[in-house]
Amino acid sequence: MKLWAGRFQKEISQTTNDFNSSISFDSRMYKEDIQGSIAHATMLGKCGIIDKDQSVLICRGLNEILEDIESGKLQIDMTAEDIHTFIEGELTKRLGDAGKRLHTARSRNDQVAVDIRLYLRNQIDDLKLQVRNLIEVICNKAEQYSDTVMPGYTHLQRAQPITFGHHLMAYAEMLLRDLSRLNDTQKRMNINPLGSGALACTTYPIDRTITTELLQFDGMTRNSLDGVSDRDFCLELASALSIIMVHLSRFSEEIIMWCSWEFKFIELDDAFSTGSSIMPQKKNPDIAELVRGKSGRVFGDLQGLLTAMKGIALAYNKDMQEDKEAVFDAVDTVKMCLTAFTPMLDTMTVISQNMRNASAKGFINATDCADYLVKKGLPFRDAYKATGTLVAICIDKGLTLETLPLEEYKAVCDIFDDGVYEAISLEKCVKERNPYGGPANVLKAVKEVRTLL
Ligand code: ARG
Repeated sequence: MKLWAGRFQKEISQTTNDFNSSISFDSRMYKEDIQGSIAHATMLGKCGIIDKDQSVLICRGLNEILEDIESGKLQIDMTAEDIHTFIEGELTKRLGDAGKRLHTARSRNDQVAVDIRLYLRNQIDDLKLQVRNLIEVICNKAEQYSDTVMPGYTHLQRAQPITFGHHLMAYAEMLLRDLSRLNDTQKRMNINPLGSGALACTTYPIDRTITTELLQFDGMTRNSLDGVSDRDFCLELASALSIIMVHLSRFSEEIIMWCSWEFKFIELDDAFSTGSSIMPQKKNPDIAELVRGKSGRVFGDLQGLLTAMKGIALAYNKDMQEDKEAVFDAVDTVKMCLTAFTPMLDTMTVISQNMRNASAKGFINATDCADYLVKKGLPFRDAYKATGTLVAICIDKGLTLETLPLEEYKAVCDIFDDGVYEAISLEKCVKERNPYGGPANVLKAVKEVRTLL
């Protein structure tokens, strides 16, 4: 039976019902729907809009429905129009008249707006915890590898020496910003739309501060049209989640590269890798690849939401039912990715020697060689040119700056002396990059990030 059956002569057609129904994806909000209804019924009782004892009856009935759903005694009817219809119908089945009074001074439009906010508010708590866990794992690893020298890259070409800890901590910074975006989203989301009614509030003497307090909102919407038709918080969440996926995807890409035989900077634990059905030697970083791939889904969810929202006149339109599948999918996907990614990172083996070897071969101390000449009085451009010439000689002779004899140095520029070898030692090159934000300050950065958490 439909909530709106009065005006209609006929039952809804099966296909229309299937097309129109949202219960297959909004049933997950049953708890929040009941929570919102309990707050609403309590307010109705307190304001004398319904009798106190009816209000008590309704609240008790709703709590029993909640218990029965959670214990499995009550199955959610998947042919119902949506979760709101199902729960109100079930309440009426159990209580008769009292159940029919619940929807006084309310519309499904403000009801659904409240439900999604409550649901997503909780989901953001879970997400924040997961992001925080990942940052903690990164901090632990960075601490462990704070002086493990590796090449830093630009254009994926070996550039200057850094440490593995420093490289990892770059991701901690991105994830910290993600955390703060989730916090912002949660703050703006935590405003109570209940009382907006269908679009124009209600003539009943409701007290919105009661539901605001009961549902632990920080405030209430100031405009009833906006209250029922705002889905900015879904857009914000999907965009915060998309940015998280950008970060996880970049990290995954590096992990995939580092696992390859060409790099072999790390090895993933067997428990977080997969094999090939035909090639016996293979060990594939499937988790990282899937995380990278799933970023596409989340970006798609955001794009879908933006498009669904952009052309609808105020206030509620059914288009807005499309918000849920998209934002729920984005939330589910990011949670799943973090669940897989964090332990994968935590259990990886770091092959420091390969990082060190790669650092020795790529002339990543060439800038330091030039700086050595500058410290001896040469203008930087001349020092740059002399070092470039030396690199070319090394490449020609199959040597590195470390193994090039002093005579060769002197032939290019007579300022060189024995001290050059010390100046270009990778360990020293890293240690001296010590301004705030530099690779020599990993431990300090870890400490600061941990305090921020
Ligand atoms: N299932 C609907 C949704 O998710 C609930 C609101 C229905 N309101 C309406 N006026 N049809 O948007």
